[in-house]
Amino acid sequence: MARQKEAVLPEEQIFYPPERFARQANVKSREIYAKAQASPELFWALQAERLDWFRKWDKVLEWDPPFARWFVNAKLNACYNCVDRHLKTWRRNKAALIFEGEPGDTRVLTYWDLYREVGRLASALRKLGVEKGDRVAIYLPMIPELPIAMLACARIGAPHLVVFGGFSAEALRDRINDAGAKVLITADGGWRRGKIVPLLRNARLALEEAPSVEKVVVVKRIGQELELDPQRECWYHELVAEESPCSPEEVDSEDMLFLLYTSGTTGKPKGIVHTTGGYLVGVTATLHMTFDLKEEDVYWCTADCGWITGHSYLVYGPLANGATVLLYEGAPDWPRPDRFWQIIDRYGVTIFYTAPTAIRAFMRWGEQWLDGYDLSSLRLLGTVGEPINPEAWLWFYQYVGRGKCPIVDTWWQTETGMHIIAALPGITPLKPGSATVPLPGLKVDVVDKEGNPLPPGEEGLLVIKEPWPAMMRTVYGDEERYVKEYWGRFPGKWYYFSGDGARKDSHHYFWILGRVDDVINVAGHRLSTMELESALVEHPAVAEAAVIGKAHEIKGQAVVAFVTLKDEVFAEIKSGKRSWQAMEEELKAHVTAKIGAIARPDAVYFTAELPKTRSGKIMRRLLRAIAEGKVLGDVSTLANPEVIAELKRRYGDQE
Ligand code: WTA
Repeated sequence: MARQKEAVLPEEQIFYPPERFARQANVKSREIYAKAQASPELFWALQAERLDWFRKWDKVLEWDPPFARWFVNAKLNACYNCVDRHLKTWRRNKAALIFEGEPGDTRVLTYWDLYREVGRLASALRKLGVEKGDRVAIYLPMIPELPIAMLACARIGAPHLVVFGGFSAEALRDRINDAGAKVLITADGGWRRGKIVPLLRNARLALEEAPSVEKVVVVKRIGQELELDPQRECWYHELVAEESPCSPEEVDSEDMLFLLYTSGTTGKPKGIVHTTGGYLVGVTATLHMTFDLKEEDVYWCTADCGWITGHSYLVYGPLANGATVLLYEGAPDWPRPDRFWQIIDRYGVTIFYTAPTAIRAFMRWGEQWLDGYDLSSLRLLGTVGEPINPEAWLWFYQYVGRGKCPIVDTWWQTETGMHIIAALPGITPLKPGSATVPLPGLKVDVVDKEGNPLPPGEEGLLVIKEPWPAMMRTVYGDEERYVKEYWGRFPGKWYYFSGDGARKDSHHYFWILGRVDDVINVAGHRLSTMELESALVEHPAVAEAAVIGKAHEIKGQAVVAFVTLKDEVFAEIKSGKRSWQAMEEELKAHVTAKIGAIARPDAVYFTAELPKTRSGKIMRRLLRAIAEGKVLGDVSTLANPEVIAELKRRYGDQE
């Protein structure tokens, strides 16, 4: 099994697939790589056979860089593939969703139940006037109605945009407005660590400035007394009560399946557009390969449906494969830090997909919380969201996987739609901290600034050199941004630029080094420094702000803001009318209100000036070095070096 030499660094250890696992794996031979490489189009066409199509494609791929069309002229329906087609088999009575709410309530939906729920909501949405192509916003807690709403939209060909329930009213408003959503599906609230997340209240605030929304559908989750506005709002359960399932819409392979907003290098989140055929082929096939999905598995992905992981590997991928999917509403440490282990034990979870930030939190809470739970059902573990540090990898391997479960570290993005770099667990030896190698049929590389390939050992930029089926098609309403940001980095070469730095090692394993742009990764969530900075400068006290990601033991990175206050505010603090501490709290609350709790700064440092180059560019690199107490490096380009000395004196060695 594991070959562990003495005195070897964790990341140099190699873990071979356990023999028992290898013998039963979906992919048993390395031939798959050679076959896929010989003809990626044939490879993906074969993978497409996993789905039911109303009409097959004329051509697998039309590549007019940087625009791709996959499974050209084919017709299908994503909801039909995730639900209806399973009814023709014994899966009709198989558990599709096993739900556990944070308060402990549970619900199991078979594929038949799912069909009824999804179909009825789809009919109801149609009656509300939602037509093919209309956008529907979804702002729900992690309850069954969330995947149901996504699938109901897919059923009638209406692209959904799911907005994470932790986002603020303003973040919701901006996304709804960018997408021009016609209907919003939300809930009276959700549970998080015993408290109510006031979703409807946020939604109402958002809708004060979101005129495109005509109707609001409200799921009763919390059950408090509540008056709905009869003009615009209706209860979900009343709306679907009299409905029966409508038939699924035949959509084109290239029709939009959903929009999902993610942070980029500018202040405004971008709507990543995914279409139907290629996306569904990509996620269905990769889940089968990377997670070795079997009919009997109880599959648990802990991501929220508000992120791409929830879309691809909680809803579309697993359900298209006919899997049993576990859905949990709440926090891992509620009411105690053993909640996840309790769930794995109770439902016999076999595949467990989570994030390094969660694993680091479990490490800190301690392995004693696993005591007394039977985790022997687990056979495969997965991680996503950020590089996993080898210590966390080893802890996960030893305490959760009991040395028997391969860990598949999956590198991918909202934009890639599907796993790009990941092990095939039956055949790929693992190295803690490396996502290992690109999946079959994908051409990934590490290149220099001009796009030239770099030899093993050298750090460079991570690119994808050929189109893949689940790739984003454009940025909603901003094609130029799609072309420029993702494909225009290396003139003369049509390479997709990921925004990540990486290096390969001598075995051609990929080691992801994190973002090289102005995006920071906090607990596996992407935040744009620009977005945070514009939120801060909207506060009346702030003159200027710079935000950096500071290394953080659990979250990977934490938000730290450097702020220059307006003169009059500074004077007020000096005169004792306001305090620094109150100001700091006010700014933290302000960012939470603007974006959401995930964006709340860990610290706000005040400074008379921000360090800038002579051309006026803020040197965030220096700010990060100061916050992390690191060597500053080259400061010769600074226009105002004295600022640095002052900042170092005040905040330099703070932890
Ligand atoms: C980071 C999440 C290292 C990376 C699916 C990427 C990772 C960004 C990994 C995308 C991994 C994701 N190892 N880094 N296994 N997975 N990342 O769009 O920086 O929320 O660019 O998609 O997360 O984040 P997104």
